[in-house]
Amino acid sequence: MSAGSNSPHYPDYIVDRENEFTVSTDAYRGQKVFEDEIDRIFHCTWIFLCHESELPEAGSYKSTLLGLQPVIVTRDRAGDIHALLNVCTHRGATLCRSEKGKTRTFVCPYHGWSFDTQGKLVGVPDAERYPECFDKASRNLHKVPRVASYAGLVFGSMNPDVEPLEDFLGGARKHIDIWARRAAGSRYVMGTPHRYMFNGNWKFQSENVYDGYHPGFVHRSAFNTIKKYSGSFVNRELNNPVRQQGYTRGYEEGHGTLEAGAPLESGGVDDDVRAAYEGRLTELYGEEGAAEVLTNRQFLIFPNLTIFDFNIRVIQPIAQDRTEVYSYPVLIEDAHPQINNNRMLDAQTRIGTAGILSADDIDVFAGNQNALKGVGADTVVLSRGLGKETEEEGGGKVGVYSDETPQRAFWRKWVRLMKQAGN
Ligand code: FES
Ligand code: FE
Repeated sequence: MSAGSNSPHYPDYIVDRENEFTVSTDAYRGQKVFEDEIDRIFHCTWIFLCHESELPEAGSYKSTLLGLQPVIVTRDRAGDIHALLNVCTHRGATLCRSEKGKTRTFVCPYHGWSFDTQGKLVGVPDAERYPECFDKASRNLHKVPRVASYAGLVFGSMNPDVEPLEDFLGGARKHIDIWARRAAGSRYVMGTPHRYMFNGNWKFQSENVYDGYHPGFVHRSAFNTIKKYSGSFVNRELNNPVRQQGYTRGYEEGHGTLEAGAPLESGGVDDDVRAAYEGRLTELYGEEGAAEVLTNRQFLIFPNLTIFDFNIRVIQPIAQDRTEVYSYPVLIEDAHPQINNNRMLDAQTRIGTAGILSADDIDVFAGNQNALKGVGADTVVLSRGLGKETEEEGGGKVGVYSDETPQRAFWRKWVRLMKQAGN
């Protein structure tokens, strides 16, 4: 983690007053800001790596990124999960080239060194030519210092001194718990992700997930199409572009939610199948609990994990003006096929790469990046709902659906992390 003596003075990037909240547009652009974000946020705090169902058995692995650091997440023979740097300790080759699979050992494509699923160096071809003192144990794969999971979500941190995962999740744990209950006593299984790229800063996507102000404008044509052709799967008041029902929440830990205050309507599930599913939820969590589970909510775990009712989205920064997004459908083990088809359909048609909503948003993000080049476009304003929020028990601010409460929580956390190292 660099001292960053040439870094900008990040506390100046936001104005956080009683009646005004603005963010400098410099926060969305420039190589130095991007490098500091990787260093101070992505390599300092907890970052989502995978769901436990992606490592179903001993030897299962997934290769991914933690910030810009390539890693392999593995399940060893004892069932424990490890996160290893995907860098061969011989001469630095990328060790694992596959996105996922099952193996006993990872064999480096360059000179054939092999490592087990705990990262131990177990094979060196023609080892006799190394000097007597060559110590294989010192050439095990480097480990991601901290790995922990919550409700099946596996996180890693490059920071050995990072706070406990539960503290990091803070107020958002309650929302993860509610999301997990949608599995109705069964387990979630992550599907293969859809992917998309856009030419814009990663934070545009993070800020968007709980933006309840934009849908009636950006997605108006999508909502009208849905209304015209298929009956609604989106619970909206089409006569008012600014939704009046529902909430936003922002937590000190940087996480935030968007809650519609009603279930997400969706077709394709017979009444008896839906009744059985909802009956099971009531059996497990009571009537009030089941209603809470079924209420549409989507939330961001700072900085880049988005959780929807039926879907998980991971926002991967690539460059200051380039972002890749992985959109995973989340199915329920042993659920009625109609329930899972419906979940898959939601991922495909609503918020997946070709979904009716994502394309609209992506176009806006790329446009934002371009527009911020404009001379005089110095700040963006996130004051909506400021001073009108209520406080939630145990911390957290609550605004109405269209407030910018979660965005402010995001930026306050962003500054806290970015200003470390004395600037
Ligand atoms: Fe991996 Fe040589 S770089 S075996
Ligand atoms: Fe949108």
